[in-house]
Amino acid sequence: MGCALIGCGKALPALEVQNDELKALVDTNNEWIVTRTGIESRHIAVEETNLDLAERAAREALGWDEGGWSERRIEPEEIDLLIVCTISGDNLVPSEASSLRMRLGLPNAIAFDLNAACTGFVYGTTVVEALMAASAAGVAGAAGRNPVRRALVVGAERLSRITDWAERSTCVLFGDGAGAGVFEWDEERAGVLGSHLVNEDDPTGALTCALTYDMPVPFSEDGIVPDANAEAAVREKAGNPQQAITMNGQAVFKFAARAMADAVTCVLENAGLSLDDIACIVPHQANERIVKFAAKKLECDMDKFHLCIAHAGNTSAASVPLALADAYAAGRIKRGDKVVLVGFGGGFTSGALVYEA
Ligand code: COA
Repeated sequence: MGCALIGCGKALPALEVQNDELKALVDTNNEWIVTRTGIESRHIAVEETNLDLAERAAREALGWDEGGWSERRIEPEEIDLLIVCTISGDNLVPSEASSLRMRLGLPNAIAFDLNAACTGFVYGTTVVEALMAASAAGVAGAAGRNPVRRALVVGAERLSRITDWAERSTCVLFGDGAGAGVFEWDEERAGVLGSHLVNEDDPTGALTCALTYDMPVPFSEDGIVPDANAEAAVREKAGNPQQAITMNGQAVFKFAARAMADAVTCVLENAGLSLDDIACIVPHQANERIVKFAAKKLECDMDKFHLCIAHAGNTSAASVPLALADAYAAGRIKRGDKVVLVGFGGGFTSGALVYEA
C-alpha cells in the first residue's frame, strides 16, 4: 500500500521569450545563456496570474482537460487536501491554495500554501504521503480530524514579477509556469517508497527575495510617530522599494550540485535502492550544468535525467512537477518504473523522493 501518483499536468504562459530578445533589456547573448545554463527561452505571464497557471496545470492533472497524463478523471469531491507550493502567489491572503480550491470547486479539500522555494513539490508530496499514511493507519481520522485519501499538489510561479529585469546575472534564468500532481492512497500499490528532506543555512544570503510590505507603519522605538503618514506619502511618491530575487550565482551553484547529488544518494539508501533500479530522475530545472555536475558526482548517465529547461527556464516550485508532467507526456515513465524527484533551492532547502509509478 502507498501514496500513488495518478495524474499530472503542466501550464506555461502564452508568451515565449527567446534569449536574444533579452538583449533589448540587458547586455547578454544567446551563446552565453545557452552554454552557461542550457536555457534557450522562457515563458512570461503577461495576462495570466499565478492562479490561472495553477488552475490549468491542476485541471490537466485531474483529467478534466486534455494535455496532461491521468489514470482516470478525479471528481472534485474526491480531493481531501490541496497544497500549492509557491514563492510568488498572487496574494498573501487568501493563500494561493484557498483561491485554487474555490476556482476548482473542491468542496472537501483543506488547502494551504507551502514555501520551500524550488524544493516545494518534493516537500509538498512528502507532507501528502505522511498524512495519507497516518490517515490509513487511523491516526489522523481517529479524533475527527481530516483523513486524507486523495491530494492535489501544485507548484506554480510567476517569477517574472520578482525578477530584476535590469540584472543580467539573474533575469536570464527565470520563467513562469505551473505543474501539478494528483496522489491517491492505494492498498494495492507501493507509490512513494521514500523521501529525504534537508534544510541548511544560507548565512551569506546567497539566494534571497525580500518581502516588501508597502503599508506605512506609524510607530518607532519611542512609540507613535504622528507624522508617519505624511512621510509615507513622500516615500510613495518616490516609488516603493523593489522586491526582487538576488543571488550569488557561484555560491548557489556549488550548494546546488552538492545538495542534489547528496539528496539522491540519501533517498536511494533509505529506500534500499540503487541508481540501477531507477528508470528516470526528474530534477529541479535550474541549470543544465548543475544537473551535469550532480550526474558526474553520482556517476550516473545524463540520459537518466529528464530535462525540459531549454524552453521553460527555472520556474522554482513549478519546475519539478512541470518536468514530471513533461516526462509523462514524452512517454518516459511507465507503470512500475521507479522514479526520483529531486529539488534544491532558496533557504537553503533540498530533498528527493522516490516512487513507483
Ligand atoms: N550574459 C552575459 N554575461 C553575463 C551574464 C549574462 N546574462 N551574466 C553574467 N555575465 C558575466 C558576468 O558579469 C561575468 O563577467 P566578468 O567576468 O566580466 O565579471 C561573467 O559573465 C562570468 O560570471 P559568473 O557569475 O562567474 O558566471 P558563472 O559561470 O558562475 O555563471 C550562473 C553564472 C548564474 C549561470 C551560474 O553561477 C549559476 O547557474 N548559478 C546557479 C544559479 C541557480 O541555479 N540559481 C537558482 C537555484 S534554485
